[in-house]
Amino acid sequence: MSDTIYPVPANWAKTALIDEARYHAMYHRSVDDPEGFWREEAQRIDWIRPFSRVKETSFDEKDFGIAWFSDGTLNLAANCLDRHLAERGGDIAILWEPDDPATPDRRITYRELHADVCRLANVLKDAGVRRGERVTLYLPMIPEAAVAMLACARIGAIHSIVFAGFSPDALAGRITDCDSRVVLTADEGLRGGRKVPLKANVDAALKECPGVDTVLMLRHTGADVPMVEGRDIDWRTAVAEQSAECAPEEMNAEDPLFILYTSGSTGKPKGVLHTTGGYAVWASMTHQYVFDYRPGQIYWCAADIGWVTGHSYVVYGPLMNGATTVMFEGVPNWPDPSRFWQIVDKYAVEAFYGAPTALRALMREGDDWVKKTSRKSLRVLGSVGEPINPEAWQWYYKVIGEERCPIVDTWWQTETGGTMITPLPGATPLKPGSATRPMFGVQPRLVDNDGTPIEGAGEGCLVITDSWPGQMRTVWGDHERFFQTYFTTFPGVYFTGDGCRRDTDGYYWITGRIDDVINVSGHRMGTAEIESALVAHQKVAEAAVVGMPHAIKGQGIYAYVTLNSEVEPSEDLRRELVKWVRQEIGPIATPDVIQFAPGLPKTRSGKIMRRILRKIAENDVGNLGDTSTLADPSVVDHLLENRPQPE
Ligand code: WT7
Repeated sequence: MSDTIYPVPANWAKTALIDEARYHAMYHRSVDDPEGFWREEAQRIDWIRPFSRVKETSFDEKDFGIAWFSDGTLNLAANCLDRHLAERGGDIAILWEPDDPATPDRRITYRELHADVCRLANVLKDAGVRRGERVTLYLPMIPEAAVAMLACARIGAIHSIVFAGFSPDALAGRITDCDSRVVLTADEGLRGGRKVPLKANVDAALKECPGVDTVLMLRHTGADVPMVEGRDIDWRTAVAEQSAECAPEEMNAEDPLFILYTSGSTGKPKGVLHTTGGYAVWASMTHQYVFDYRPGQIYWCAADIGWVTGHSYVVYGPLMNGATTVMFEGVPNWPDPSRFWQIVDKYAVEAFYGAPTALRALMREGDDWVKKTSRKSLRVLGSVGEPINPEAWQWYYKVIGEERCPIVDTWWQTETGGTMITPLPGATPLKPGSATRPMFGVQPRLVDNDGTPIEGAGEGCLVITDSWPGQMRTVWGDHERFFQTYFTTFPGVYFTGDGCRRDTDGYYWITGRIDDVINVSGHRMGTAEIESALVAHQKVAEAAVVGMPHAIKGQGIYAYVTLNSEVEPSEDLRRELVKWVRQEIGPIATPDVIQFAPGLPKTRSGKIMRRILRKIAENDVGNLGDTSTLADPSVVDHLLENRPQPE
């Protein structure tokens, strides 16, 4: 870890919304007087009925509950659209860049976006969608994805976006869990010149979802897709018949806004539920301060709307702030590895927000791809989703930003709604690899395994001691699981699942997950989920999955598989299992290594000793620790002798 400090550039300190002194003053006020701080900060939202209550939160079992601004009412789509019409209705809200640079781009003004959202909202209403109903979105990165989110928000329906890279099975599970009756999709998506068969995946998923009666289908690539009579509706035909006016529903601050499924250490993915008022304040505030955002600036977050980063920082945060937000359908390295920086030049992007995994992949292609672009419009660069290693940080800073742009390494989670630990570009001296200091209202604490707080410099489990407005409110359909997952490991505080170090300057350095969750290319995967996909294969008796270091993805997926007794391991079977997992979950869950193992290391009580499996996967085999408590220590020797060589 690097200890070099990069001071705030002088021009930034002078002109930023928040400089160092102001950061400290605001931070202290936010934790000493949360009522006063948030009452003022929440004025950034257009409330229909102003709130009188601010913070009603407790993480303790006896009076557990989380509510913010609970007697206020608002509509989030109106905050993203209607409020801008008078002053900047003609400004561009969404700049859409297609997968193929030869396809025409699209530039959609706030006025046009407002009309599109109203039309689609009216279609949903005609389909009988009501307040509080769940609508599943399975869409590519096209403006209609944002239109669909906002149309739901406008009528008070709860959207559940399923990342378009997930398999029909994964889609079906999510549709069923939240009991969606209506699904929005497109014929196909496009990524790097390849087609993703979205409608075909929906058709396959719906075989398992008898409750779905309406599919709204957008023609995007124009592929010939079968339409099911009485169920499937052509999106464009439907919106063409609708009025461009639709009054926004008056929603309570604590009414649900969206569900987003995310993996945990156990069980199936959880439906993380965010509500309206607190999320709005949090997404808008963090977007403004973290990117030092002023209306009129061109801002680009390269995340997919299938992840929380896309929710908060492609759509809701920027649009609440009247931004011009870039939406990119494609991938960083197609048609060539300068694609990102060409887009930056094309639209004169001032703030760019991306994931370390993409940077590492591009870094490997060499600097020439970057240097042939100008990038002089860039002012600030963001990083999100996984720890950024100091080498990638340096490359981002020196080669992409030419030592001119502060790097905001933002630590947060699907559960937190928005950034939690992050530099502010005009306030925070940077240390490569550190997410630096807490956002306003965020009170991090490090604890040891017994929950004893660690003061000053040290390393431990990262917990947050008090609520913030953007916090998730429940797991859809399972409030008990919400409490169990986040508030029982260390009673009275929110447990993040991350390990963390704090240095003598009070800077935070996230060290990675300490539960059975791995982070593959900035995407969170539950090892239990991949294991259950593997054991669902008829030839597999048992499976254990752990993370392994991976130069580009951050972590790769290492699976130990025990076959049924009559089955012989083979290369063909290895390939079959890889394909199987891709089908069961999606390409992001593709195992990097499958090791066939006649037995897994278990304690005498039958518990798999993952610590040993992790060490073998990390090739840290000189240091396996105590193996004497294993039921059969010889399985470890077998694992070591038969370790496959990763490609
Ligand atoms: C997990 C959350 C952040 C939204 C997208 C991912 C890891 C995230 C950082 C960072 C180190 C990070 C953590 C966290 N993570 N950002 N800047 N530095 N680690 O959201 O899928 O819910 O994953 O991603 O381990 O717990 P997510």
